[in-house]
Amino acid sequence: MRRAVVLAVIVLLGLGASPALAEDLPQAVTTQREMVVTANPLATAAGEHVLRTGGTAADAFVAVQTVLGLVEPQSSGLGGGAFAVWHDAATGETTTYDAREKAPMTATEDRFLGLSFVTAWQSGLSVGVPGTPELMEVLHDEHGTRPWPSLFTRALALAQDGFPVTARTADQVDSLLGLNPSCSDRLFFRDPVAFDYFTNGAEVDCAAKPAGTIITNPDYAATLKTLRKDGAEGFYTGDLAAAVADAVQTDPAIPGDLTVEDLAAYEVVERAPVCVDYRGHQVCGMGPPSSGALAVGQILGILESFDLGDDPLGEEFVHLFSQAGRLAFADRNLYVGDTDFVTVPVEGMLDKDYLASRAALITDVDMGTAAPGTPPGEFDPSAPQTESTESGTSHVSIVDRWGNALSVTTTIESSFGNGVMVDGYGFLLNNELTDFSFAPTAGDGTPIANRVQPQKRPRSSMSPTIVFDGDGEVELVTGSPGGSSIIGYTAQSIVNAVDFGLDPQQAINVPHHQNRNGSTNLEDPIPGVTWDYDVDALKAALEARGHPVSVGALTSGLSMIQVVDDGLVGGADYRRDGAIGGR
Ligand code: DON
Repeated sequence: MRRAVVLAVIVLLGLGASPALAEDLPQAVTTQREMVVTANPLATAAGEHVLRTGGTAADAFVAVQTVLGLVEPQSSGLGGGAFAVWHDAATGETTTYDAREKAPMTATEDRFLGLSFVTAWQSGLSVGVPGTPELMEVLHDEHGTRPWPSLFTRALALAQDGFPVTARTADQVDSLLGLNPSCSDRLFFRDPVAFDYFTNGAEVDCAAKPAGTIITNPDYAATLKTLRKDGAEGFYTGDLAAAVADAVQTDPAIPGDLTVEDLAAYEVVERAPVCVDYRGHQVCGMGPPSSGALAVGQILGILESFDLGDDPLGEEFVHLFSQAGRLAFADRNLYVGDTDFVTVPVEGMLDKDYLASRAALITDVDMGTAAPGTPPGEFDPSAPQTESTESGTSHVSIVDRWGNALSVTTTIESSFGNGVMVDGYGFLLNNELTDFSFAPTAGDGTPIANRVQPQKRPRSSMSPTIVFDGDGEVELVTGSPGGSSIIGYTAQSIVNAVDFGLDPQQAINVPHHQNRNGSTNLEDPIPGVTWDYDVDALKAALEARGHPVSVGALTSGLSMIQVVDDGLVGGADYRRDGAIGGR
């Protein structure tokens, strides 16, 4: 894709009056040496500072993550988990790090049986053992060069001196508060520590601290000092671990069972990347327990059988992309769980012949609900999991001056995780365990691959991805938040770049469309953020082909970097607070 910028111009001219050329839309940023893209300008600035002062992408990630946990607390942080794809320029090797949260040792498969999503979410039961602090240390130990304590400087200063509450944070606090019966009868922000931190308080108006309010977080600063001094051990043992376990076990809604032993036993696992060949490009990402690389890989592998045309919003392409999404989600829901516990036919699901046989199921009309296929290879007998909603995650893409590339999707699962802030420590707990299937078995007793089991990691949709060209050189770093929509957002970003020749910002500015084996979702255009297009005409055309269509917000948070001959081209997602840095 080193010719991608030139190609982009040609393709866009071919599109005639393409809205992509609209000057009021965000434009790509180009740098010569290094780049970091995150969902927040302060986090990007922290990463940029580390890169500029000679840090690697791994060093920069530590600075980015510590700031994100402070300024975008609803999405990721020390209390959550993450997946990272790392490409090492010196060795040419690519590897992945699984820092997914784990179920406690005492978890049983009926943990969530009969509970509503909200009841499970806003409880101690949903909290998995966090992986993010350990991931920061592992990445730094293996790929960092800057002194560990130096990576905490920005986050510490912001926590101590203050930073502005973003409009996104304030809006999300208010929308959750609005779900409570009353200010005194609160499930959301039931935890008094989180309530005091994020709101004006019950005595004032029980509303979110307004956007722009400068707040400090001295407790988070103290936690960062512990990590700076003791490393991840300072998180997983001692007072901090005891406080995490206590916060879970004394949850005001439903107490959970996570213990200090669970924390002490946590380990990040390095796993081989899952890669698919797509039109001569290698697309590499996170395998199980994430369904990300498998589902993105299946979508691409199925699309490879078709000529996609030249319009990223063309009816035929949107149809094909939706059908590929249906087929990929059918397999994902049946087969994917934590491979430390269940056998997943990883290679079979990406087998070229198998994917061609799946592509052959696509006709000119919507296929309706797709059934799972039977990929080659071994797998456990399993029943499909029904989809649940997921909504707090962030994506970080970094390329450093040596050419190392890092793609990390980092999460606390839903907005503000499980809603509990660890008292005295200034960070929120995750609710990642709600990513498990609530039902352990189908009606006939067949087990579901993603059922709860002790010390298991819940299936994810997170799809941190690095794309390589035919020579094995990094050409794209991409990924997004968005729950199970992450798969479509990420796959679409790759097709927009590889097939339609769009630069990263243009690829992000294209309105989203996808199908998770239900209705076909079309994104309402956002003035100044996405291309304008006739969504009603596209909806009508798809309905004429039998698609059930829903139109609405599809709030991705893509962070993309493209490597070109003379530098790096970045795109950030202005559906959220995306920001690009580097030079
Ligand atoms: O791992 C997953 O797939 C989900 N817990 C991610 C949640 C998410 O992306 C929410 N984002 N907006």
